Amino acid sequence: MLVRNLYVRYEGARNFALSGISVEITKPGLYIFVGPSGSGKSTLARVLVGLIPHLYRAEVRGEVRVCGVDPVSSGPAALAGVVGYVSQNPELFVTALTVFEELACPLAAMGVLRDEIVRRVREVAEALGIAHLLSARTVDLSGGYLQRVAIASALVLDPPVLILDEPLARLDKRGAVDVSRLIRRLAEERIVVVFEHHLDELLALADWVFVLRDGRICASGRPRDVVRQMLDVDVPEIAEAFALAGFEEPPLSVDEAVDYVSHTV
Ligand SMILES: Nc1ncnc2c1ncn2[C@@H]1O[C@H](COP(=O)(O)OP(=O)(O)O)[C@@H](O)[C@H]1O
Ligand SMILES: [Mg+2]
Repeated sequence: MLVRNLYVRYEGARNFALSGISVEITKPGLYIFVGPSGSGKSTLARVLVGLIPHLYRAEVRGEVRVCGVDPVSSGPAALAGVVGYVSQNPELFVTALTVFEELACPLAAMGVLRDEIVRRVREVAEALGIAHLLSARTVDLSGGYLQRVAIASALVLDPPVLILDEPLARLDKRGAVDVSRLIRRLAEERIVVVFEHHLDELLALADWVFVLRDGRICASGRPRDVVRQMLDVDVPEIAEAFALAGFEEPPLSVDEAVDYVSHTV
């Protein structure tokens, strides 16, 4: 995945939502873009999946490649099976009556045969812990399960790149912990790019973090190297507490803090 000197301005807007973004991601792993509301997270996600400029009208400058495809000129259809995407409003995208239909839909659209569809749907549903929900109605799902169904739906075509816009936004603590672990597991064998504001459960699991501010990348690095540059954005409370107490390398999660304390006391 390559982004070089990307500028994006929505039609009718005065300012650029993204300015001079350059990113190169070549290896499987978990990459997180963090930043306050309005910093450009969803805009970048929409460019990577071709929704900008094909659904959202905007002026786009710069170079973008995702698995060899240029989403800006080719549009979302060219990325089916290449990029899985879950928007920040999954309820708008989960449209089928039942969970089974939701997961079968992308496969049917690609012309996959019935038996193979059933096999693939089962496999993905089992991997995401929703196999017991295949006949459930999507409108009856809790936030945590809806999020899992949306992720499963993005994964049925087994894309090498998965893009998740605020996957933890509407989950409770338990749901956020579970979905974070799931995301980490998925990142072992593919490129997973997460755009997230809520970092308590996820930051410690990331391989690389990009900090967005006003449409620019203001810092990037391993989580422990950028956490001090993120204090005014949103870092896990535990990291903030240690950082404000003067620790150069604050623990990034409660587990790390417990580990640290039990080794020093
Ligand atoms: N559909 C849109 N049309 C016009 N401006 C938009 C649209 N979506 C977002 N913006 C503007 O682009 C900037 C970046 O927004 P966004 O990418 O949604 O940030 P984030 O996801 O980090 O909250 C903001 O100034 C926002 O108001
Ligand atoms: Mg957003």
